[in-house]
Amino acid sequence: DTELRRQAIDVLRGNWERGHTVPSRRLYPHQWSWDSAFIAIGWARTSPGRGRHELESLLAAQWADGRLPQIVFNPAVARDAYFPGPDFWRSRDVPGAPRRETSGIVQPPVHAVAALEVHRASPTLGRLFLRRVYPGLKAQNDYLLRDRADGSTDARGGLVTIVHPWESGQDNSPAWDAELARVPADVQVLSAHRRRDLDHVDATERPTAADYARYVAIVDNYREHGYRDEAGAHLFVAVDPLFNALLAWSEEALAEIADIIGKPSEPHRERAAAIRDALMARCYDRAAGHFFALDRDGERVPEHCVGGLAPLVLDLPADVVDALVAGMTGPRFALNDRVPLPSYDLTGPAFDTTRYWRGPAWINTSWVVLRGLERHGRQAEAATLRAAMLNAVRQEGFREYFDPRTGAGRGVADFSWSAALTLDLLA
Ligand code: DGY
Repeated sequence: DTELRRQAIDVLRGNWERGHTVPSRRLYPHQWSWDSAFIAIGWARTSPGRGRHELESLLAAQWADGRLPQIVFNPAVARDAYFPGPDFWRSRDVPGAPRRETSGIVQPPVHAVAALEVHRASPTLGRLFLRRVYPGLKAQNDYLLRDRADGSTDARGGLVTIVHPWESGQDNSPAWDAELARVPADVQVLSAHRRRDLDHVDATERPTAADYARYVAIVDNYREHGYRDEAGAHLFVAVDPLFNALLAWSEEALAEIADIIGKPSEPHRERAAAIRDALMARCYDRAAGHFFALDRDGERVPEHCVGGLAPLVLDLPADVVDALVAGMTGPRFALNDRVPLPSYDLTGPAFDTTRYWRGPAWINTSWVVLRGLERHGRQAEAATLRAAMLNAVRQEGFREYFDPRTGAGRGVADFSWSAALTLDLLA
């Protein structure tokens, strides 16, 4: 374990880029939002100061409306090193966008959880840090609960929507297939762009050309609306259980942060409970024992994705915990001590061993589920999942994702959050 820890620290150091950490030097050469949160949790275990920088540099690129952008572009990197780059997003044209160029969408809000972890790693310095980051972390969630509120929520508030598959972080998950199919796919638009991802990773491991054509079309439309969340701005709308579970979990973290720095914490606890209750009422399917995504009409999309296990990080009734654990140990997710949880149902019609979020096992989603198992005292399952995560990175290195059956490494090597969360496991 000492050797694995040293290797993980080497990966993070190698990917450190003055104030932030790139997810991958090759495939993702800028700063990514939810990556930075997981990366900060890893830095907390070795150099908390870097964890603070990681989160503060991201928050420095927050928009005036509170949105925390999915990508903050590094001006020192070639403008076409990554597609879609700054010339595609054109954030400079938008009033309220920060000086640094960014994308115009968001990613799952797990940053308050990360800030609390960083604080706990160095509490004396951390209190000042928490005071500095609290307003931005709160504004991030305010934006989501205000401008992205799912229309059908009750007066207590509730779930928030994503308006691009990239916002889920689980880009080509089968949960988005039906909603995405409503977006016109003109693969010709791609002739105007060069997909740089395919320079680094085999095409069979990435989203398809039709996916990318639709990803581009959704942004083109949102950009034409100045990235305002207004009627007609969104060609894609969905409710993601992972995104909402992390939002509720981050509200719990904000409550703890508020207590530490002497701000009112009760509103955060109320928001966390309202989101949890809405997840239970709308996404939880009792017969299936799983949390499903919702389409734009609020209908459940009956695909079993790993994000549907993420609400375990919240306070849930015991029978719901039992059902989620049963689903995790059953044939769909086949919990074992060799390979982390698949991103999608091993028995599902869209299952693919190789293609990004359509089956491959990712360290971050397993880490979230692991925290959930621990919260509910499911020590045996937690130990198995932890062993699987460590086995995968020991065997294959800090790969981006893994074949969920064989454990073979996929995507890029030296992937930051795989290394960062390994550091957390070893702490
Ligand atoms: C990518 O380029 O695949 C990223 O997931 C977008 O955030």
